Amino acid sequence: MTDDRKFLFLLGSARTGGNTETLTREAARPVEATQRWLRLTDLPLPRFQDARHDGRRYLTPSGNEQELLDATLEATDIVISSPVYWYSVSADVKLYLDYWSGWLYVPGVDFKARMRGKTLWGVSVLSEGPEQAEPVVGTLRRSAEYLGMNWGGVLLGNGSRPDDILKDSSALTAAETFFAKEFATV
Ligand SMILES: Cc1cc2nc3c(=O)[nH]c(=O)nc-3n(C[C@H](O)[C@H](O)[C@H](O)COP(=O)(O)O)c2cc1C
Repeated sequence: MTDDRKFLFLLGSARTGGNTETLTREAARPVEATQRWLRLTDLPLPRFQDARHDGRRYLTPSGNEQELLDATLEATDIVISSPVYWYSVSADVKLYLDYWSGWLYVPGVDFKARMRGKTLWGVSVLSEGPEQAEPVVGTLRRSAEYLGMNWGGVLLGNGSRPDDILKDSSALTAAETFFAKEFATV
């Protein structure tokens, strides 16, 4: 893995130290590239407003939104760490993704062009069978496709109570090499 990679890990659980965070940290252990970790609950965003077609301009972001935008643009690899909530990503992750739609319209940001060629990854844990995570996989994969990003895939694990994931030996084994996949430069 080249050392000009910059990984952004976005923790999207509604609790700290949960299974998804633990699995993400396990998978990140061998990553030698620069790592930045942000917990979405530490950077709350206001309700997303869709101003694309009503004549209002999207303003240059400030505060938490700016921090998330800057971190997103700086990264070469974006890792969405989201538990499965109601078959989908967590509300904090969904809100962050909704903001991508606004950032596409912020003058001077050139969001779509700057996202192209980055890699999007997912890490997710759920308590039921893996089929319930299909919407998570689809949401992230299609979002990557929409922005011309590489798709790294989703590392999936099983658990309910914190640390249950430590009993999921196949997820822990997959975590050892999950981020080792290389992509051709787009
Ligand atoms: C709001 C909420 C919704 C959930 N929905 C699902 C679900 O649809 N399918 C499932 O298998 N587990 C579901 N779970 C269980 C969590 O995915 C599981 O407990 C997971 O470990 C939570 O992530 P965390 O430990 O990283 O915080 C849900 C849990 C919560 C709190």
